[in-house]
Amino acid sequence: MKKRLFPLLAAVALTVLASCDGKEAVPVDLSIVPIPVSMVAAGKPCNLKAHPDIKTRIDAKMAPEAYELNTGKGRVEIKAGSEAGIFWARQTLAQLEAQYGDVLPGVRICDEPVFSYRGAHLDCCRHFFTVDEVKAFIDMMALHKLNVFHWHLTEDQGWRAEIKQYPRLTEVGSVRKETLVGHYGSNVYDGTPYGGYYTQDDMRDVVAYAAERFITVIPEIEMPGHASAALASYPELGCRGKDYPYQVQTTWGVFPEVFCAGNPETVTFLEGVLDEICEIFPSEYIHIGGDEAPREEWEKCPKCQALMKEKGFTREAELQSYLITTVEKYLADKGRKIIGWDEILDGGVSQSATVMSWRGAKGGIEAAKMGNDVIMTPNSYFYFDYYQTGDPAGNDEPMGIGGNLPLSKCYAFDPYDQLNDEEKAHIRGIQANMWTEYVATFDHVQHMVLPRMAALSEVAWSCDNRTSYDDFLARLTGGLKPIYDKCGYHYADYAFKGIE
Ligand code: ACM
Ligand code: ZN
Repeated sequence: MKKRLFPLLAAVALTVLASCDGKEAVPVDLSIVPIPVSMVAAGKPCNLKAHPDIKTRIDAKMAPEAYELNTGKGRVEIKAGSEAGIFWARQTLAQLEAQYGDVLPGVRICDEPVFSYRGAHLDCCRHFFTVDEVKAFIDMMALHKLNVFHWHLTEDQGWRAEIKQYPRLTEVGSVRKETLVGHYGSNVYDGTPYGGYYTQDDMRDVVAYAAERFITVIPEIEMPGHASAALASYPELGCRGKDYPYQVQTTWGVFPEVFCAGNPETVTFLEGVLDEICEIFPSEYIHIGGDEAPREEWEKCPKCQALMKEKGFTREAELQSYLITTVEKYLADKGRKIIGWDEILDGGVSQSATVMSWRGAKGGIEAAKMGNDVIMTPNSYFYFDYYQTGDPAGNDEPMGIGGNLPLSKCYAFDPYDQLNDEEKAHIRGIQANMWTEYVATFDHVQHMVLPRMAALSEVAWSCDNRTSYDDFLARLTGGLKPIYDKCGYHYADYAFKGIE
């Protein structure tokens, strides 16, 4: 592994490069993740005990999230394009302090993110996490300079968002009678009711907490699939009708029970839910799900078939597209845009929808070529419920869904693969997803997320400026790991031990 030195003034050959303000400067080699655009020597060390104050200034000429952190003037100075940039600079400063304590090297660090959308998702439905745990997740995101929290709030196994017009969603839909023990396919259940939900005040509290950290919260309301908990609450919204005993699911997977696309009450319900969601979440984007919605119920349902006939649809996929487009228009009237999983491409999608590519990068590439905006979150690179080594049992890994997604693989993702310059412009960002079928505690969440979140961060901020995996791992070890230790995070140490 590359040994990191500061300063590198003793190195034999020193290259000279332009610093942020165009002056010639000597590069230095610091353990900072993500790797900044530039790091140069900037004068004498800075003793924080002597000068604890930090001077900050907004420079409107800089890009909104760009920052310059200077410790070379005897004290810390930060200049940034916005308050967000100042906040990201403070995260860099935290890494310097973690390495050097009170006496920081005199350096000037400049950085700005490649992607404006740098997301992390948390599934609070398969397992519920308290408001404090959600805030702790947001803190982990802030440390890694991520700026979008995708909050997965509705599922087959539990509806977690209080909706005042539809109280049964939480009275009935937030509790399942028991939970599968072990992996999918096991026939063992724990026999214990499991539930939890967020009040509207809870959700507002999380939105405000995230905003203080320059993180936008995007709520996800799943439609038309992953709807069992909603249908258990309001069975009249399903194709099987009000007398069918829908239940909040107790096992994992994809279920045939979806919202009835042919029932106008479904649209009324979804719009009512979204009215309240939009009141709570000021985000420009609302995630409407769209994934894994089987169409077999629609094939048999008289209401769905009647709607297809009326609209001249020949494929059930067009019903999905109809529902999503109807909701998209409703949200557009409120000044909001939709994001949907890549299945929203099936049956046609409007140009204004943003596609979240999860079944690999294929859907994202297709969407970008069609001119849609894209968030890349391919399962093979950014599904943090996957195992982190090739031998989970031998390495004593806690439960994961399967797969093998070591840190080095996350780090290697190329968001621009197969795209020309025009198409590249549609890649708005990248995201990692923390699905929690097999992750029941927040300690376990931390184990799955850290340190892979650091690789996500480096791709999101630095992308083509990345150096090498070994260099990244050295910076991670020097800059972020001491903070993980200080915070008491339950991070995975396979990568630090060289286990893949
Ligand atoms: C997904 O993983 N079903 C989006
Ligand atoms: Zn139907």
